[in-house]
Amino acid sequence: AFVLHVVGARPNFMKVAPLMAALARRGVSQRLVHTGQHFDERMSGVFFEELGLPRPDVDLGVGSGSHGEQTGKILVAFERVLLESAPRPSAVVVPGDVNSTVAAALAAAKLGVPVAHLEAGLRSFDRTMPEELNRIVTDHLADLLLTPSADADENLAREGIGAARIARVGNLMIDTLRTHLPKARALGVPRALGLEPGGYAVVTLHRPSNVDDPDTLGRLLGALAAVARELPVVFPVHPRTRARLAGPGLAEAASALRLIEPQGYLEFLSLTSSARLVLTDSGGLQEEATALGVPCLTLRENTERPVTVAEGTNEVVGTDPERIVRAAHRALSGAGKRGRIPALWDGRAGERAADAVLALAARDGAG
Ligand code: UD1
Repeated sequence: AFVLHVVGARPNFMKVAPLMAALARRGVSQRLVHTGQHFDERMSGVFFEELGLPRPDVDLGVGSGSHGEQTGKILVAFERVLLESAPRPSAVVVPGDVNSTVAAALAAAKLGVPVAHLEAGLRSFDRTMPEELNRIVTDHLADLLLTPSADADENLAREGIGAARIARVGNLMIDTLRTHLPKARALGVPRALGLEPGGYAVVTLHRPSNVDDPDTLGRLLGALAAVARELPVVFPVHPRTRARLAGPGLAEAASALRLIEPQGYLEFLSLTSSARLVLTDSGGLQEEATALGVPCLTLRENTERPVTVAEGTNEVVGTDPERIVRAAHRALSGAGKRGRIPALWDGRAGERAADAVLALAARDGAG
């Protein structure tokens, strides 16, 4: 078997790492393609070092752009990689829901190369999210759907995707978290920032629907500033958000928060693992907070990861400032959600995914 993995944006790296490691243990030859969607050292490079990922064999270097431009550039460039690849890959793995995911899946599917979608079946049922469209299209293109949870399997069944294409393997990002938690804790990032472990909140915001409109962003910052009257609020700022914060009228609310640069994987895990509360619009962080047992308020109207609400520490509170402040106050007064660890968040998801990908690759060889 010869497996080609395609990553592009920050949340992809921690998902592909345990799969690549498990395939390497099985002696499978692999190549890693980076689309270049994320290109900053802090958004990309540092993750390769910290997660022990191999250096990408190919970097498509597509960079930023409109959705059409970015997706189109990846489609063209990755198709060329596939056509020139010798041997022909027996499977292409695409993780997550970013533009790189859907573009690579489409290029591979059209060339008849089997596609495995890692983290398949998630649905927010909100088609205004670019990620939702990427998920739907990728799932329908994929030959193998590696799902994290039962709700994902149900979503796929409802869309007519046959059970034979689905393998419920669990959450690979949590494999990565479990592997790196001891090292992350040992870094002591909170103290280095002058924060008392257990005595601060962590915020992340980068969804276009939250940060691109100055009024919405202003209201969210106002709510966060109110939370900051109860405890220090540290906010690693995504580049998309950084650009918006410079806008008029937002500086004052932002000054109540402790703004820092985007963090590496270990540094961020060090921060969140000792946080009293997390407030976020990220998908992955909802899961990480559940795995860490840290109460999480999701600043969106929906989540594609309902298991974090049904079983974990997550609460979807939307973007109404009053509701956010009330929920934060409740969580800080000790009435936050406790939660338990969902099924298949056991650190072995990469092993199960590797077996499923190998079975897919073998099928291709036989055909
Ligand atoms: C992308 C994903 C989103 C994911 C997020 C994680 C899509 C549709 N969205 O959103 O699902 O949650 O990544 O971060 O794929 N920029 C830099 N340096 C970088 C990368 C980006 O400065 O290394 C800036 C650029 O100005 C760019 C902006 O950030 O315009 C947004 O980057 P882009 O990759 O388009 O989308 P994200 O908002 O990061």
